[in-house]
Amino acid sequence: MNPKDPSKRPPAAGRPAFLGHGVGLRRDHFERVLAGPTGVDWFEVISENFMVDGGRPLQVLTRVRERYPIVLHGVSLSIGSTDPLNDSYLEKLGALARRFEPTWVSDHLCWTGVGGHNAHDLLPLPYTERALDHVVDRVRRVQEKLGRPIALENVSSYIAYRHSTMPEWEFLAEISRRSGCGILLDINNIFVSARNHRFDPMDYLKGVPPEAIWQFHLAGHSDKGAYLLDTHDHAIIEEVWALYREAVRLFGPVSSLIEWDDRIPPFETLEEECRKAGALQREALPEGPPARGAAMSAPGASADREVAR
Ligand SMILES: [Fe+2]
Repeated sequence: MNPKDPSKRPPAAGRPAFLGHGVGLRRDHFERVLAGPTGVDWFEVISENFMVDGGRPLQVLTRVRERYPIVLHGVSLSIGSTDPLNDSYLEKLGALARRFEPTWVSDHLCWTGVGGHNAHDLLPLPYTERALDHVVDRVRRVQEKLGRPIALENVSSYIAYRHSTMPEWEFLAEISRRSGCGILLDINNIFVSARNHRFDPMDYLKGVPPEAIWQFHLAGHSDKGAYLLDTHDHAIIEEVWALYREAVRLFGPVSSLIEWDDRIPPFETLEEECRKAGALQREALPEGPPARGAAMSAPGASADREVAR
């Protein structure tokens, strides 16, 4: 093995098991997913949609979980806010995680409100030492409360702060190093932010620690001319696939997920995007991903999931 060739690098130690290629579980596809085997390996679930006492979504999730590994992905942690952590939210999230045993729990590196007001958006932080200390302390407290490490995702952004003292990738890497949290690297968000803020997306990929990369997100965005907008409403563009290929070469096999949240297509379209991600991974890593058993032994992974490939 040539250690200088990133495509020959083994999966980084400390990373959770490789789950394969998955999609977000959306209401439009409940019937299709329950009807039989699919071409996807795992599902990502929006945590807040299942923080309820009963009803059909929970029934569906119970049945999906019997067959597939899942990951809980939240949008309300607001890890960067100066408001106190929301204990009641964390209790509900902890209960959901104990019930469904996700392979991991994730949210975003952002703030979503302050002073009790919710901005209903994933807002970027100033990348300063002070903000770093603040976020690291909160991540540690969240992980203690949940009894498990979490993963944080880079958001797409349209503004930057004049007083930032480091690039986003350095901030994210340092949060992971100091708190022990994983990184959910959204490849499309890197592409969108790189264009909006005029940086080289490869600098981002090279600036984060490989062992901390737990998951990739892939999604479509919209070109508004003066800027790119993260819309998740159509297919992944070729430049984002090309960046994904580079990420796979750098980090090895990383559980990857297709995000499609608006103008949701037939399930077959998502299966096709999953197949494409798998093909690109095989192309980037000719030696192939780790043995299937590695994914099957993932913490919380079901041994009898229906996987078509
Ligand atoms: Fe994402």
